[in-house]
Amino acid sequence: MRVALTYNLKKKDQTKPADYFSEFDSEETISAISSAIRNNGHTVDLVDVEQPNLFSYFKNNRVDMVFNIAEGKSGRFREAEIPAILDYLDIPYTGSGTFSLALALNKALTKKILKAENIPTPNFQVFRKDDEKLDGSLRFPLIVKPNFEGSAKGISASNVVDNEGALFAKVKEIRQLYSQEVLVEEFIEGKELTVGILENGKAIALPILEIDFSSCQRSGEYFYSWRMKEFQGSEEFGLIPTFHCPARLDKDTEKLVKETALKTHQAVGCFDISRTDFRLSADGIPYVLEINPLPGLNPKESNFPIMAYAAGMKYENIIEAIISSASERRGALNEP
Ligand SMILES: Nc1ncnc2c1ncn2[C@@H]1O[C@H](COP(=O)(O)OP(=O)(O)OP(=O)(O)O)[C@@H](O)[C@H]1O
Ligand SMILES: [Mg+2]
Repeated sequence: MRVALTYNLKKKDQTKPADYFSEFDSEETISAISSAIRNNGHTVDLVDVEQPNLFSYFKNNRVDMVFNIAEGKSGRFREAEIPAILDYLDIPYTGSGTFSLALALNKALTKKILKAENIPTPNFQVFRKDDEKLDGSLRFPLIVKPNFEGSAKGISASNVVDNEGALFAKVKEIRQLYSQEVLVEEFIEGKELTVGILENGKAIALPILEIDFSSCQRSGEYFYSWRMKEFQGSEEFGLIPTFHCPARLDKDTEKLVKETALKTHQAVGCFDISRTDFRLSADGIPYVLEINPLPGLNPKESNFPIMAYAAGMKYENIIEAIISSASERRGALNEP
């Protein structure tokens, strides 16, 4: 197959805010995916989606499949941009479609769907202006997050607040920094878990990954904040969380968490791959924080490959499973 890999490249640019490129992919990730595609017997075209002639590139080069990890350009529907172009040109691509990608970027809207499906997610309120009245049923501590970001952008320990004064100040700060609605939700104490779903013949949940931050106390960070993600592994900052894969859970809880991740994948309409982030409360409720239809695929650092390795897969197997799942779906669509 001729496969095109679509991506946004992480760059070094001191004029941009520190988290500007956090969602984008490193050269290491792009090179690992392209080597895997080649090692699986395909050819690969590298397509940086920020090139000016993207549309004509796809019109003039009929590739068989696009391996899409692109985050898009900007705005609330950015992850849906490349799939929309590919749909228009009728070119098959891996992963979720425009609708699911745009939906998952909107955390509050996704949570409404989860609630309708009886999937647990923390109680929440959306702040569209700074002086919105706080819903009296919400219980402190609360966490304040930009509604349309990923990679924990805008999320630090100071986003967890325990009174209205601190809450309103944080809402204002996030609204100004990110020019968007702000999501306020109940902060769930408990285990941090993430679950990868891979459609390898059928949708399966990979071994659950538990991320334990107790080894990071010296850093002042205690959950998966932006600094924790950005500087993960840094000895200097004391940001070395401990990974347990499979997670330390009893069989019933493990089953419940996996089922919840599968239900979330289906509720949002994801294809091929996703990663759902959880907090497991002390009373055993797996609260879904969000679903990532474009999870990071760095072969050494990203959560998703760690879970696939624990299932006995090699990096090449992950990439090929995604491509064959997308090809099968396309084949099914084309059947008379
Ligand atoms: N309601 C909550 N209760 C407890 N911890 C939370 C809550 N919401 C967020 N967190 C913490 O903040 C982290 C980042 O939050 P979230 O997953 O919503 O953001 P994100 O930017 O979409 O992350 P990603 O990097 O996975 O795209 C979580 O992994 C968790 O550690
Ligand atoms: Mg997350």
